[in-house]
Amino acid sequence: MEKNHRTEPAESARTEPRVLNECRLTFPSLSANEGYARACAAAFCAQLDPTATEISDIKCAVSEAVTNAIVHGYRDTAGEIIMTLRQLPDRVVKIEIRDKGCGIANVEEARTPLYTTDPAGERSGMGFTVMESFMDTLRVVSAPGRGTKVTMTKKFTCLPRVRR
Ligand SMILES: Nc1ncnc2c1ncn2[C@@H]1O[C@H](COP(=O)(O)OP(=O)(O)O)[C@@H](O)[C@H]1O
Ligand SMILES: [Mg+2]
Repeated sequence: MEKNHRTEPAESARTEPRVLNECRLTFPSLSANEGYARACAAAFCAQLDPTATEISDIKCAVSEAVTNAIVHGYRDTAGEIIMTLRQLPDRVVKIEIRDKGCGIANVEEARTPLYTTDPAGERSGMGFTVMESFMDTLRVVSAPGRGTKVTMTKKFTCLPRVRR
C-alpha cells in the first residue's frame, strides 16, 4: 500500500483556521507602552490594507485591553503583558492580550456596561463595551490570581485597494 507522507491534518479535520502570519510582543506594564502596543497592532493590520475607520477601531480596542491589563491586572505592581497578533484567512485579524495579574472573579459582571471596580479613578466602566462594539468578537478568560486573556477578532470588509 502506498505510504501517506502527509504530516498536516486533512482540511476537514482542522478545527482552528490556518494562521497566515503571527507576531508576538512582550512588554512591561508601563502606561507608556499602551501607545506602543496600539501602534504595533495598527502596523500589523496595515498589511491588510484596511480603511482608516477599521484601523481606528483596532487601536481603540487594543488600547482598552492593554490599559485594563496595566491599571487593573497589575494595579500598583509591575508585570508582563503579551500581545499576539494573527492574520487568519478571509481578511480576519485575531488579537490576544494577556496578563498574569490579579484576574477577574466574575467576568460576566465585569463585562456589564458601566461596571467598574475603580469608580474613584477616571474609569468609565465602558472598556469591554468599547472592545465589543469595535470588534466582531470578544472573548475574556480569567482566573483570580492567575491573570486575564482577552481575545478579539475583526474581519476587514473592504477589498484591498488597487495600487497604481
Ligand atoms: N486585565 C484585567 N485584570 C483584572 N481586572 C480587569 C481586567 N480588565 C478588566 N478588569 C475588571 O473589569 C472591570 C471593567 O473593565 P472595563 O469595562 O474596561 O471598565 P473600567 O476599566 O473603566 O473599569 C474593571 O473595573 C476591572 O475590575
Ligand atoms: Mg477599562
